Amino acid sequence: MKKRLEKTDVKEKTVVVRFDYNVPIINGKIIDNTKIMASLDTINYLLKNDCKIVILSHLGKIKKEEDKLNNSLELVAENLKKILKQEIYFSHDTMDPELPERIKIMLPRDIILLENTRFLDIPNKLESNCDIQAASFLASLGEIFVMDAFASCHRAHASTVGITKFLPSCIGFSVERELAALDKLLMNPKRPFTVIMGGAKVEDKLELIEAMLLKCEHLLLAGGLANSFLAALNFNIGSSLATNNYQTIQKLQNILLNNREKILLPLDAIVGSSYDKNYTKYKKINEISDNEIIYDIGIKTIEKYKKIILESETIFLNGTMGVYEDYRYSNGTKEILNILKESGKIVVAGGGDSVSSVKHFGFNDAFTYLSCGGGATLEYLIYGHLVGIDSIMEDEEIEVLDV
Ligand code: 3PG
Repeated sequence: MKKRLEKTDVKEKTVVVRFDYNVPIINGKIIDNTKIMASLDTINYLLKNDCKIVILSHLGKIKKEEDKLNNSLELVAENLKKILKQEIYFSHDTMDPELPERIKIMLPRDIILLENTRFLDIPNKLESNCDIQAASFLASLGEIFVMDAFASCHRAHASTVGITKFLPSCIGFSVERELAALDKLLMNPKRPFTVIMGGAKVEDKLELIEAMLLKCEHLLLAGGLANSFLAALNFNIGSSLATNNYQTIQKLQNILLNNREKILLPLDAIVGSSYDKNYTKYKKINEISDNEIIYDIGIKTIEKYKKIILESETIFLNGTMGVYEDYRYSNGTKEILNILKESGKIVVAGGGDSVSSVKHFGFNDAFTYLSCGGGATLEYLIYGHLVGIDSIMEDEEIEVLDV
């Protein structure tokens, strides 16, 4: 089995490709198409080889029927059509029994995008539980599988891992590029190595935070993650997003106890209010009242984080400092990005939100590397491998490319 796309014979074959088109959508508009652009090298290569292309992807989290409403990939098909200037066929049913026939009559260079693979999770979690029948159906749609969804490589799902059991598989150009860049910049980082993490739910990141603390010299926190740590230290964080799980809070207290020097938390914040959407105020972190909600870091936190950034040699950014899309809460994210840009250090930003914020403020070319992966990039840095490529990369090393 050949493992890399360039070394795989795809000429005139029907190729099933898994991309990560989990793009941010606001009011029915894709606000950042970085992930779509990242898929173009592989698509163009397959077009050049006269392949028929069957594209799989997830979009968003699909836990209940209503979640399907705002998470259709049809919007992505429209976007791709404009970029490639060619028809993109769309299947509204991810496992439509007529798909094999429909694909059979497609012409070389035709592209079909199937609806969100996570729609298969309702009601029986076929995608997320790596259902063997779902995987074998998706595999039946082509002759070769290309894994090019780096941001999904930490998920053992039917469309990422399951399908590799049924088709000769290889990694695409985007995955190859990500691995090469991360190996070069972050696997043995120039030290001191600082990680900046924002994000909503601490439960999702707890294990990763613990493991990351063994790898870095400093961990600077913001957002819901920081709120939960502040709550664990008994600060009143008002109505801010944070965990209220007792066991999680105990774990956070232990982490703080064992990593006093490494973990930095906000000293101040810009807050809103749970009952007045026009209310905005600067608050020191020990002055927050019950109805207030932390939406951004304040100026003292920015200064504190700046000092650490300037003492570091390598910085990995995962997440934002606050609700940067709202101009009232954008200063923390913008200032930290600016400090990173001016620092002259090795700076890698990873994950949908971080990359979207970098682009939002026009810092596109300011950083050493922008990774499409959020959780996947963190897991790769911590564990050194990803379940979504383990099955594909058994015997072939990835050459380190210049990035
Ligand atoms: C991402 O944006 O990190 C990937 O698309 C994975 O999304 P998930 O966390 O919902 O699996």
